[in-house]
Amino acid sequence: MNADGRTRLDQTPEWTALTAHRDDLAGTRLRELFAADQGRGTGYTLQVGDLYIDYSKHLVTDETLRLLRELAAATDVFGLRDAMFRGERINTTEDRAVLHTALRAPRDAVIEVDGENVVPAVHAVLDRMAAFADQVRSGAWTGHTGRRVRNVVNIGIGGSDLGPAMAYETLRAFTDRDLTVRFVSNVDGADMHEAVRDLDPAETLFIVASKTFTTIETITNATSARAWLLQGLGGDEKAVARHFVALSTNQEKVSGFGIDPENMFEFWDWVGGRYSYDSAIGLSLMIAIGPDRFREMLDGFHLVDEHFRTAPAEANAPLLMGLLGIWYGNFHDAQSHAVLPYSHYLSRFTAYLQQLDMESNGKYVGRDGQEVDWQTGPVVWGTPGTNGQHAYYQLIHQGTKLIPADFIGFAEPVAELSDGLKAQHDLLMANFFAQTQALAFGKTPDEVRAEGVPEELVAHKTFKGDHPTTTILARELTPSVLGQLIALYEHKVFVQGAVWNIDSFDQWGVELGKVLAKRVEPALTEGAQVPGLDASSTALVAKYRELRGR
Ligand code: F6P
Repeated sequence: MNADGRTRLDQTPEWTALTAHRDDLAGTRLRELFAADQGRGTGYTLQVGDLYIDYSKHLVTDETLRLLRELAAATDVFGLRDAMFRGERINTTEDRAVLHTALRAPRDAVIEVDGENVVPAVHAVLDRMAAFADQVRSGAWTGHTGRRVRNVVNIGIGGSDLGPAMAYETLRAFTDRDLTVRFVSNVDGADMHEAVRDLDPAETLFIVASKTFTTIETITNATSARAWLLQGLGGDEKAVARHFVALSTNQEKVSGFGIDPENMFEFWDWVGGRYSYDSAIGLSLMIAIGPDRFREMLDGFHLVDEHFRTAPAEANAPLLMGLLGIWYGNFHDAQSHAVLPYSHYLSRFTAYLQQLDMESNGKYVGRDGQEVDWQTGPVVWGTPGTNGQHAYYQLIHQGTKLIPADFIGFAEPVAELSDGLKAQHDLLMANFFAQTQALAFGKTPDEVRAEGVPEELVAHKTFKGDHPTTTILARELTPSVLGQLIALYEHKVFVQGAVWNIDSFDQWGVELGKVLAKRVEPALTEGAQVPGLDASSTALVAKYRELRGR
């Protein structure tokens, strides 16, 4: 029994039934499942908005899916989902509502937090962002010397960086190519150096993005950016007002830093950092792609929110994807999950998902405060597909680990490519389809022999197959499709956290390192003693000081 009175997950009849079913299915091959059901290739699919989702290449049967849905019902996934959409404080350890879905709700929606409809405030900020973005894009917003802004540098980290940085890369073809947009996150001064070294301060706008406005990396980088700006513009403090805006929930800290609250775009504590890029945190993206495209993206998010909120369990894509992850992580010992986009523009997509998934579900303590006895969030990893094929796919095909993977691809190449480059798209997508086929069905020893391969190489050239994949295919990578994809993964992560009975919306695990870094810094700079520092770290600090000649 859990401390909250619920039966422990791994003692529920639904869990036990899945364990027994797993044993019954052991040894079943995907080849057999496809041979037994001619309709599997089209039947095990879902269409959600623009996303065609094929889950036929999973090691599951109708019975598996039914049992997984029963587990979801037993753990009341939809009950928690409804509580989230209602604005209840489901982030219990921080006592907060979880309402990123309100950020993309239509203007006339009513979503209440503590009895107050938050939708008008959401749209008021979006409208202010749009007016500001238009001013920057048109050149009406000028810097301190009267020159128009040509460079936008977002300073933030984690959720205040990864979302807009990923979306900017993804939607490059929709951006104003006359603007230079860069993202600085790392407290390593090299990041800022490379971002501004060829920029003219008179034409540069800094966007300081930080929910708390206390994050040391961001405040340090913002302080350096201010010094760079003032040095470049003759030291007049008034320049800050034309060259710095802030995105935050913390007006007091923003003012304290010297940014005019007039230049602050707010969001709210019911928006988690890793769920925030469709809030004010997306301002750099909105400047790059324009308010209309940004709104299209929000509509894409909303479409999938509505799907998750209303689709029945059998046809609910985030539920299905979450449960498939549980099937492999909890019943087949899979430790990781690969996300492999076949679009160069999605090069930061998996990095973004790493925070979304691993910061949300990387927890060993349940909502009831007890340690869980089951696996929780997987290691999420991956890079664009064809590059991965020539690097780590070997391990997915013939390694000893089970790695479920999502393949994401598009029918159309991006419109602005030349005809010659567009012609490469079929080759890209041929790889996309070939890989999931090879992973699922492999190549038997007899098939290898039939090619005339000498016997001593047959085992090496055999592919066992049965590597499960989901294929997500859309016509084109648009702002709306990006919103749909991100919402799909957000809700998938939600489903898994709900089943595992963990709070997917806190992140206490990042705190200890932050505290220790503050304690260690004086040891590096001044040689101060750090009380309680272990022997290894003490020696490393001494070595560091020696190498720096201190
Ligand atoms: O340290 C983790 C974290 O709190 C993330 O959850 C968050 O996205 C990031 O730091 C940045 O926080 P902030 O937006 O408050 O600067």
